[in-house]
Amino acid sequence: MFETLPHPKPDAILAQMAPFKVDTRPDKMNLGVGVYMNDKGETIILDSVKEAERRLLEQETTKTYVGLAGDVAYNEAMKEIVFGDAAPAGRVYGLQAPGGSGSLRVLAELMARMRPNAKVWVSTPTWPNHYALLKTGNIEIAEYPYFDPETCSVDFDAMTAKLRTLGSDDVVILHGCCHNPTGANLSPAQWDEVAEIAVETGFLPFFDIAYQGFGDGLEEDAYGVRKFASTVKEMLVAVSCSKNFGIYRDRVGCAFVMGGTEETATLANENIQNIARGMYSMPPDHGASVVRIIWQDPELRQQWMDELKTMCTRMTSLRNLLAESFRKQGGGDRFDFVAVHRGMFSLLGLTPEQVDKLRQDHAIYMIGDSRVNIAGMQEQNIDRFVAAVLEVTQG
Ligand code: LMR
Repeated sequence: MFETLPHPKPDAILAQMAPFKVDTRPDKMNLGVGVYMNDKGETIILDSVKEAERRLLEQETTKTYVGLAGDVAYNEAMKEIVFGDAAPAGRVYGLQAPGGSGSLRVLAELMARMRPNAKVWVSTPTWPNHYALLKTGNIEIAEYPYFDPETCSVDFDAMTAKLRTLGSDDVVILHGCCHNPTGANLSPAQWDEVAEIAVETGFLPFFDIAYQGFGDGLEEDAYGVRKFASTVKEMLVAVSCSKNFGIYRDRVGCAFVMGGTEETATLANENIQNIARGMYSMPPDHGASVVRIIWQDPELRQQWMDELKTMCTRMTSLRNLLAESFRKQGGGDRFDFVAVHRGMFSLLGLTPEQVDKLRQDHAIYMIGDSRVNIAGMQEQNIDRFVAAVLEVTQG
């Protein structure tokens, strides 16, 4: 029977991993999958995480199930991290889920239950896996304008013009911060305007926030979610701890529902638990316990926040060095946007042929749409990277 199966299209992001591994060129650069690397190119385990794991090993007395919603204390910790003081009392429920992706999927199923014929709007462009994770039942996926390749910034007029045409059967995916793949983000004033449009039109905001703390800071990066939480009646929020806690393979995330009243929030909460039961039953717990232990201990929490800040500062400083190097090596101001973008990624605006040439001639690996992972660079290879990009774009 298996012969009837189609060959799936290779994943645009993960397809880079295998050829990079077998490339024997010593100066190869991995700017593909979104994983943080330090100045030695290593993805290390944070000290705060290691310490929390040590404590967990000592304290854990059982491996019995944690329950459908996962660990309530973890969900509360995540609510504080993401919503701060902005969560309306009794109207927000969290569900510990396997990663940001698991959270997206649970919430997509909820959306399909509430509005079987909903249209989900994603930004042009968006994280490619959004299409697979959000597609369920009759749900249609459509795109709203977001990135202007000419200016390499958000085309806010086009974006808001489209959003103003939506209504209560529409769901809008918003990247909470550090837009993936572009790196171009909304300012606080722009978030305010989008929140007003959501109230006026009645579309359902569905946040995906996977890089909190990688942009301008832990609090700053939550501006959009918090603004919406204090403005709109209902929303969905999918959160990932993969990047900011560096616990990628432990699959830690949280799916939040915010209801218009305590009753409807409770109803939504019952439904996400029921959906999770039919999908994977109960969530993995190790990483969520690590997050809870860190958040509940003031010293560990501070240590984690310091480590997060170090990662964030390093990415911002690499961005500045990159923009400087482009200017120094004759690229003019064309690449100045790299210093303005925030988060792990920037879309460089190269053609697929130029991306191929960088891989073939220079052992530089990026995603086919020319998305680069800034954290994959090291100070000492920035000039080489810039020279190669200028060679393929100008030469
Ligand atoms: C990425 O965008 O590179 C990350 O979110 C990893 C992934 O699963 O695609």
